[in-house]
Amino acid sequence: MAGKILVVGSLNMDLVGCASRIPVAGETVTGRAFFDEPGGKGANQAYAAARLGGKVAMLGRVGSDDYGRRMRGNLERVGCDVSGVMPIPNCASGIALIFVADSGQNSIIIVPGANGRFSPEDVEAAAQEHFRDAALVLLQLENPVATVVAAARAARRAGASVILDPAPAQTLPDELFHLVDVLTPNETEATVLAGLPPGRVDPPHAMAIAHSLQERGARAVIVKLGEQGCVLAAEGAARRLPAPRVEAVDTTAAGDVFNAGLAVALGEGMDLVQACQFASRAAAVSVTRMGTQIAAPTRDEVDALAG
Ligand code: RIB
Repeated sequence: MAGKILVVGSLNMDLVGCASRIPVAGETVTGRAFFDEPGGKGANQAYAAARLGGKVAMLGRVGSDDYGRRMRGNLERVGCDVSGVMPIPNCASGIALIFVADSGQNSIIIVPGANGRFSPEDVEAAAQEHFRDAALVLLQLENPVATVVAAARAARRAGASVILDPAPAQTLPDELFHLVDVLTPNETEATVLAGLPPGRVDPPHAMAIAHSLQERGARAVIVKLGEQGCVLAAEGAARRLPAPRVEAVDTTAAGDVFNAGLAVALGEGMDLVQACQFASRAAAVSVTRMGTQIAAPTRDEVDALAG
């Protein structure tokens, strides 16, 4: 049986407005739909991995409010162990304000709330109970970076592999690169990590950046390129892997679903190339519908896309 996937990360309530396009600064655009749903990069990864059949636990913090209870409950419903998701008294849950355009593109403002108060000491206190039996630890950057570093150290001590999604984009301390087995930036995050102006890159450029991030200490780097697929740079493998062609209606959380698929596949013993292909299929299914956790695919849907 595949080992436990431990997600250490954020939980946000997503407040989503859909409109023909995303407003520019100073502009008001009339939307056509609104919904709220549990999200957050960490929780999305945990939810999607559980839905794909992984044995998943999550560590994180929510506020002492209805949003916190709802977010925790949503993870519980897919079988995720939420004993490490604790409410902080007198604190608000994390919030994400998301605009989705008809093109499927999005823009997001996050207000961290309880996610910003998840400390390295909290991780240390949970290390014995929660990291001990983890095979893979999934991290992102919606908690303080010191907390992410503490989680990566705890994972290493426990002998677990570390997959870091460096999102939202920011520069990182050198130590973190050395603690990471698989680093999975999208193109914007890859350019920021490489010290370049944020922007789009073509696959050869993405591969060059991936190699430079390997030189900084990450064992393997996967640059996620959306509809262009991904590039994988690992020992003995430098490959561009295409993505399935689908009609995208909402790309929010596609990267989270990719990482969930990657973890489930690696946990089941697939190699990195096979795991990237599985992850790309999972992300492709998720962009064909609106939302984040509500868009996470089932295993059957991902397998069906394999043809
Ligand atoms: O990656 C998508 C997620 O980013 C959303 O669910 C939102 O909460 C933000 O964290």
